[in-house]
Amino acid sequence: MDTLRIKGPARLSGAISVSGSKNAALPLLFGSILFDKPVVFENVPRLWDIETTLSLLASMGAQSEWNKEAARVTIWPTITKREAPYDLVRRMRAGILALGPLVAKFGEARVSLPGGCAIGARPVNFHIDALKQFGVTLDVEEGYVVAKVRGQLKGAHIVFPQVTVTGTENILFVATLAEGHTKIENAACEPEVVALGEMLRACGAKIAGLGTPVIDIEGTSLSQPPGPIVISPDRIETGTWVAAAVATRGHLTIRNTDASKLSSVLDAFRAMGTEIRVPDPSVIEVMPGNNFLPIDVQTAPYPFFATDMQAQIMTVACLAKGTSRVRETIFENRFMHVAELRRMGAKISVRRNLATIEGPVQFKGAPVMATDLRASASLVIAALCAQGTTQISRIYHLDRGYQRLDEKLKALDVDVERVKE
Ligand code: EPU
Repeated sequence: MDTLRIKGPARLSGAISVSGSKNAALPLLFGSILFDKPVVFENVPRLWDIETTLSLLASMGAQSEWNKEAARVTIWPTITKREAPYDLVRRMRAGILALGPLVAKFGEARVSLPGGCAIGARPVNFHIDALKQFGVTLDVEEGYVVAKVRGQLKGAHIVFPQVTVTGTENILFVATLAEGHTKIENAACEPEVVALGEMLRACGAKIAGLGTPVIDIEGTSLSQPPGPIVISPDRIETGTWVAAAVATRGHLTIRNTDASKLSSVLDAFRAMGTEIRVPDPSVIEVMPGNNFLPIDVQTAPYPFFATDMQAQIMTVACLAKGTSRVRETIFENRFMHVAELRRMGAKISVRRNLATIEGPVQFKGAPVMATDLRASASLVIAALCAQGTTQISRIYHLDRGYQRLDEKLKALDVDVERVKE
């Protein structure tokens, strides 16, 4: 397990390029199951979760080729086994995204239940309840969701009790190939859901309402994608760079992104007093700031402030003068970073889903432990601002979702070292 050693304080200045989005890439790669011929993906980020997805597809009989330098993945979807095994799904909860495509294409699937994770219980009951409405028989046997379709999948009226991103994605797969009309209410509006819907549409799917809470789908058959599927820039990586630049009072130009997908994140940092420019929709420029105002922010489904940015903005709030409040409404246990930030000097108290942050503090380097992907990112930001050296252990969490973060930091002159253990 590698450790990241960061010597602070640093000031992030210069230019950085954002990689393809993890959460957009995962459903699209699983979507290859729907096709008969090879599918090509471009701008694929070099991440552990992509590696795990390709291993999952390989365990089902698919073949793939990953040209890492060109960020291109080709998948030959020669599926012979309709099963996603525990061994791989436990490494990556998004393995549940195999369920929709397998059911849609083959009418059967055996997909391991993902189990809980550091940020909460994260059940998949909404996926299961929705699939049942298409005429799918679903049972849980020995830790696996076993799905079988008798006859033809039939369009359904789905009302999700709570917004679910991968749940909406699984239903998009199934509804696209089901007979008749499907309506999804309380659908996720996240850009990653829209990207999946647009890919399906490019192959002939009849989907209306993408990016809104009501999606209508008319079942049809699919043709091959007309060309390579290009993964959109990672909005959470972008937001993490914004947070890091703000926290280090740097002057950072973030390229290859899509500022239109970050409005609430940029608004939150602007409300703290940072000047952020968008000279072009694909470029964000963070201007060096000084004193930060405290914030009051609450996570919510897109287009509101993303839970995947909560830990990072909390680190920045520690530097603001006054009392900030961060409320987490999506996951019940997503404050694991608080204890680690406290080890570095943060003054944060937590009551249920509300964190109250007193600032400003001067972070001090300390040994800390990464507990999940975005928590790791918040620790990196704190380490960049800290006096002294911070050692972040278990950074495999970081490697799951940030492409070569240490190399990108090095290119910005940060004193950072990956220590192999
Ligand atoms: N939920 C249920 N039952 C379900 C599904 C969801 O109770 O069947 C609950 C969850 O426990 C949670 C809420 O509904 O409280 C929303 O969960 P959602 O299903 O939207 O989460 P997800 O699809 O599993 C995706 C991202 C997460 C991101 C969330 C929220 C992917 C692969 N993952 O997860 O990304 O935090 O949406 O936006 O798209 C990350 O990248 O660090 C990450 C955790």
